[in-house]
Amino acid sequence: MDPPTPWITWAMALWDASLNQNLLHEVTSPFATQAEALVLAWLTPYFGMQGGHFCSGSTIANLTGLWAARDAAGVKTVVASDAAHLSVEKAARLLGLAFVKVPVDALGRLDREQLPDLSDACLVLTAGTTSTGAIDPLDLVGTAKWTHVDAAWAGPLRLSHAHAGKLDGLDGADSVAVSAHKWLFQPKDSALVLFRDLEAANAAISFGGGYLAKPNIGVQGSRSAAAIPLLATLLAWGREGLAQRLDRLMEVADALADAIESSDHLELWNRPQSAINVFRPTNRQSDAFIQAAPAGMLSTCVLEGETWARSVAANPSVDVDLVIESVLAASRANV
Ligand SMILES: Cc1ncc(COP(=O)(O)O)c(C=O)c1O
Repeated sequence: MDPPTPWITWAMALWDASLNQNLLHEVTSPFATQAEALVLAWLTPYFGMQGGHFCSGSTIANLTGLWAARDAAGVKTVVASDAAHLSVEKAARLLGLAFVKVPVDALGRLDREQLPDLSDACLVLTAGTTSTGAIDPLDLVGTAKWTHVDAAWAGPLRLSHAHAGKLDGLDGADSVAVSAHKWLFQPKDSALVLFRDLEAANAAISFGGGYLAKPNIGVQGSRSAAAIPLLATLLAWGREGLAQRLDRLMEVADALADAIESSDHLELWNRPQSAINVFRPTNRQSDAFIQAAPAGMLSTCVLEGETWARSVAANPSVDVDLVIESVLAASRANV
C-alpha cells in the first residue's frame, strides 16, 4: 500500500526539513498553516466534510475520529467489521470504549445482518479494507450515533470520475480518515482526519496550554508540514492527474484479476473492489507460490484461517504485463 512518491514531494520534504515549521502554532508555521488550509479546502468537499487536520497516519486519524465520537457525541461502544484495521480496536482500547466485531460477508464487507444495536455506538465502516480492499456498505452511514469511515486506502477514489460512486454515502459520515501516504502518493507520515461538523469535533478534541496562544487540536502536539508536499502534488497534477493515476491502478488490478481467472493454476478470491487482488494457487500451496514470485511482488493475507497471496496496485508506473507474466510463471513453477 506504499506507492512510489513523485519527485516534487522529495523536493518539498527537503525544503520542509530545512525550515522545520511546526503546525502546533501558526507563528511557527506561517506558510505551512496556510498550505494546510488550502489543501483541506481543496480536498474536503470530495468527502462532504467541513474540514479537519493532517496527522501522521490513519492510526492517528482513526483515533482522533473515535475520540471526537466519544467526547462530542458520547458514544460508549465502537462497532466495526472483523476486517477493520487493527488501529480501530487499538483506538477503542485507548479511549476506554467497548469494541464489538461484526462478521464479514462473502465479499469481505461488514455483514449488515449481524449488526448490534447502534444507538450508543460509533459505527466504523472501512472503505478499502487492508487485506482485501473490500468496501463496507456505506449506505449504513448515519445509522449509528456517530459514523466514522476509515477510508485510509480507498478514500482518494472520491477524486476519480469513474470510481467516486463506489464510495457514495461516505459524505454523510461524522468523521473520515484518509491516508495521503497511500493513494495520494505522499511520503510518510501523511494522513487526514476530516469532520462533518468541524466546530463541534474541534471543541471535543482541543486542549488549551499556557504556552499556546490558541488551543492544540487533535492527538499530536508538534506536527510536520506534510501539507506542503501534497499541495505541490495537487498543483502539479491537479484532480485530473490524480484521477488518471487512480483509474490506471484500478485497470491494472482488473487486468491482473482477468489473468488470474483465466489461469488453470490460480484461484481468484473475488474481483478486486479497490485494486487489491487476493488469490492463491489451485493446489493451495500459497507460501511456495509467493516464494516463486519475484521478491516483494506479493504479500499474504489470512482469510478464515487460510493463506492467500495479495497484490496491491499502488504504483501507477507499474508494467502490468510484467506483473502478470511473473504471477503466471510463479503459478506454473508451483504446480
Ligand atoms: C484501512 C486502514 N486503516 C488504517 C490504517 C493505518 O494507517 P497508518 O499505517 O497510516 O497508521 C491502514 C494501514 O494500512 C489501513 O489499511
